[in-house]
Amino acid sequence: MIELAPSILSADFARLAEGVKAAAEGGATLLHVDVMDGHFVPNITIGPPVVASLRKVTELPLDVHLMIEHPDRYVGAFIEAGADWISVHQEACVHLHRTLDLIRTKGAQAGVVLNPATPVETLTEVLDMVDYVLVMSVNPGFGGQKFIPGALAKIKKLVALRAARGQNYRIEVDGGIGLETIGDTVRAGAEILVAGNAVFGKGDAKKNVEKLLAAAKEATLQKV
Ligand code: DX5
Ligand code: ZN
Repeated sequence: MIELAPSILSADFARLAEGVKAAAEGGATLLHVDVMDGHFVPNITIGPPVVASLRKVTELPLDVHLMIEHPDRYVGAFIEAGADWISVHQEACVHLHRTLDLIRTKGAQAGVVLNPATPVETLTEVLDMVDYVLVMSVNPGFGGQKFIPGALAKIKKLVALRAARGQNYRIEVDGGIGLETIGDTVRAGAEILVAGNAVFGKGDAKKNVEKLLAAAKEATLQKV
């Protein structure tokens, strides 16, 4: 099943509830929340209080993408605030197995994220314990960047590995997803598409989500 996960990073932070409502009306089934600490990535965004506020205004599952150092220190706080899915960067976790285990133990869906320079092979020992793998198609830190095409080969590799090992993690892609890139991304095998700028950057968020989902669904028909 193809899902669109609007990233609130490009929304108006003073009117988040309205943005989320519009995105949900357009057919979004997941909400992507980008957490940045100014250390792991060169930007700072939001923390658990904003997740708690979002929890009150939407029933969409909250997909919290932690771009932070020492994520294990904050996993509990985000889950208590209402996060349903939590992903951590392979590059930020010295004890990745322990951190993923912690997320699952606390009852959230666990995801692992790969930066553009990090190979899929670095995940072979943890693919059996994640609910999803998030492939970054930009270097994390900012919205509105250009899609890095190398992500497509990584998606295909994850699809092949999953089949070969009989596993069932889902594949999410984040960064530079828009009407021009969504087709190739879906055809490569991505199932969850994060889009920030393409949803909240300009125009009507509801219509933007509808168009992106229509383009993604069309691409599934072309998948061989
Ligand atoms: C980038 C974030 C993304 C970002 C995507 O660091 O993880 O989720 O919001 O934004 P767009 O869709 O504008 O590339
Ligand atoms: Zn993200």
